Amino acid sequence: MFELAEKTAELAHVRPKLCNTAIFANAKGGVGKSTLALMMSLGLATRHPKADVELIDLDSQATSSESLRRFANHRFTVKNDDNLFLASGSPNNGSIINHIETVEAHRTKQKYIVFDSPAGNEPGRSSFLLHCDVIFVPTSVSDADIFATRKYLLSLHQLFQRQRKDYDNEAPSVVILPNLVDSRAEFNELRQALDDCPAYIGQPLYYSPLFRRAFRAEDDDGNVRALLRSNDAYIEWLTTTLAELDRLNPNPDKLFQL
Ligand SMILES: Nc1ncnc2c1ncn2[C@@H]1O[C@H](COP(=O)(O)OP(=O)(O)OP(=O)(O)O)[C@@H](O)[C@H]1O
Ligand SMILES: [Mg+2]
Repeated sequence: MFELAEKTAELAHVRPKLCNTAIFANAKGGVGKSTLALMMSLGLATRHPKADVELIDLDSQATSSESLRRFANHRFTVKNDDNLFLASGSPNNGSIINHIETVEAHRTKQKYIVFDSPAGNEPGRSSFLLHCDVIFVPTSVSDADIFATRKYLLSLHQLFQRQRKDYDNEAPSVVILPNLVDSRAEFNELRQALDDCPAYIGQPLYYSPLFRRAFRAEDDDGNVRALLRSNDAYIEWLTTTLAELDRLNPNPDKLFQL
């Protein structure tokens, strides 16, 4: 009996998680949250044909859900549900957490939930962030974005510390995503500016005019195909980071390059 219990615990421990939840978030607008949520969700849907992918748009502007709805099928769902945010635009923590937990409880095959979130998101009012496995924080290299990103990371850290007092749960991994980068030198500059942040930093996504057309519904989807094709290596890295997330926890003490 004891042996069986031990074996079951062992199996539960090694069994890969069947639902991985990621959010793209930063209080700053225009840093690439929706663009990266699009790349992640289409990247997962095309690279993991046995998994289900759900894109949930928490932004009332609905940039990502409106442009991605045309790709929805039995494996790829796109959700923009009024119940998930309050009239004020703040997230409805209770219903989001309930949704994540219900999905986790009923999985029989791998599922990825990808949240896109609006600018102005405040971690202090977003306790659902603690139920995500990873928080991707896109930022550009401009001074204004770096400043806002540092502030956002600090608020996330405070949220994690508040929860640690109540529970002993592991905090979500935090991965900064440098976006709209011009050169390697600029990327290095960003790393220096964020060096003391207790988070991971991902591969750089360089500036490309292709992204400007990412959300258009072209007849043959040539714009989306070109975008996915020309960023193949980046998308491979991004989707693998989510699929193999168990390698990341816990967050580092200072900036760590992935
Ligand atoms: N790597 C890139 N190169 C060029 N343009 C980009 C890149 N990434 C994003 N953009 C463009 O920058 C603008 C802002 O991107 P996006 O809408 O994804 O940001 P966001 O953080 O979701 O903004 P919001 O806070 O308004 O929701 C868009 O016009 C997008 O096409
Ligand atoms: Mg957006």
